[in-house]
Amino acid sequence: MVKLTEYEQRMLNGEMGEFKQKALQFIVKYAEVLGANELCKISRATVFIGAQHYLDSLSTDNYDEIFSKFYLNSEKEIKVGEFAKDCICQTCAAPCDINDYETVHLSKEFFEKNKRFMEITKEAGVSIVNSCTPYYVGWLPLKGEHFVTTESSNVVMSNSLFGACGNADGIEAAVCAAICGRTPLWGYHVKENRYGTVVFNIKCPSESVYDWDIIGYTMGRLLPPHGKPIINGNFEIPNINKLRQCFSSLSTTSGAEICHVVGFTPEARTLEDALGGKKPIEVIDITYKDYEESVKMICDEGSGDIDLVSIGCPHLALDEIKEIAMYLKGKKIKENVELWIWTDYAIQAMADFNGYTDIIKESGAKLLNSSCPIVMREESHKHSKGMVMNGAKQAHGIKSQTKVPVYFGDIFKCIDAAIKGRWEA
Ligand code: F3S
Repeated sequence: MVKLTEYEQRMLNGEMGEFKQKALQFIVKYAEVLGANELCKISRATVFIGAQHYLDSLSTDNYDEIFSKFYLNSEKEIKVGEFAKDCICQTCAAPCDINDYETVHLSKEFFEKNKRFMEITKEAGVSIVNSCTPYYVGWLPLKGEHFVTTESSNVVMSNSLFGACGNADGIEAAVCAAICGRTPLWGYHVKENRYGTVVFNIKCPSESVYDWDIIGYTMGRLLPPHGKPIINGNFEIPNINKLRQCFSSLSTTSGAEICHVVGFTPEARTLEDALGGKKPIEVIDITYKDYEESVKMICDEGSGDIDLVSIGCPHLALDEIKEIAMYLKGKKIKENVELWIWTDYAIQAMADFNGYTDIIKESGAKLLNSSCPIVMREESHKHSKGMVMNGAKQAHGIKSQTKVPVYFGDIFKCIDAAIKGRWEA
């Protein structure tokens, strides 16, 4: 039996409307299934809503009907109401750029539908941000703050780097939590569950964003089920972009939701601190051999012609866009090759103002916002004969949407491939 506060009970009784009542019913059932005895208040949420392709299965364009069935688990159509006022709620990655659908081969009809869904989302009190790296534009939960998010890399970032508390909930659970402002007090919302259990000693390169992407991918594939990783050893101190990359690939090859970095993240001042005074269940060295094995798993073999390069999984920070612009200055992307560079539209506006967008455009590449090939799905990339990606998560995930070769490399190797129209092993 889940113990509710008086406020929660009133919401469950329907005093705050049917929209909130249905959302809370979902959360209470979710808590019962998990075995949570009470709920906790959330102060931040990112939700994966809009005209996302997973909704196509419902074969209707009526957003109230879609919302009721898919998110609220209700056959009865309930008008989309207001999300929790005291929870800062915004959208995660979207199925299309907010301005440009032609570059990414999507139809005007789909673009308009997404725009219509976004308008309803805005009216419900959810800010349209369309970012899978929301911490770059102000969505920054602090230590002890409770959040929900549908972006797996953001779960690990927020739990580990910021010391905030959240679980890798499903899309519906996160949406319902953001509507009623409550989530089950369970999992990583509880201090005792946050200690690390598996220690990784880093004995491979750890200088670049690319290295950290491979470290994350490797940790994930070597992590025992339900293990909670701790990064230890002689690694180069990472910055936020490196950890973003590491945590996105870690959450691709494993179900990890937290990852302590000894001497760096707030709950890992020391190894003992990260382990909560217990012994690790396993200690694993990540060697150069493991690193190379991961590269082979992510990147298809050999060299080959390519026509689509996508950089920015997860969405890039302004400093990376600047670096890309400086690298592209005076260069030209090969004819019939597309180079897409992904960020959110707030950072894109900063790139515009600083002149980076013009330099990128001059080279024949495109700075795009809000989405990525995986989220836009096959329609956006089905014309491609060979693809190049800079993110292990994207390179790994896109293989379920395509049969063409997919190559993986650091940002500059990806750009070189776009200039030559060819991936050189
Ligand atoms: Fe973001 Fe798409 Fe990668 S949503 S994390 S760029 S798969």
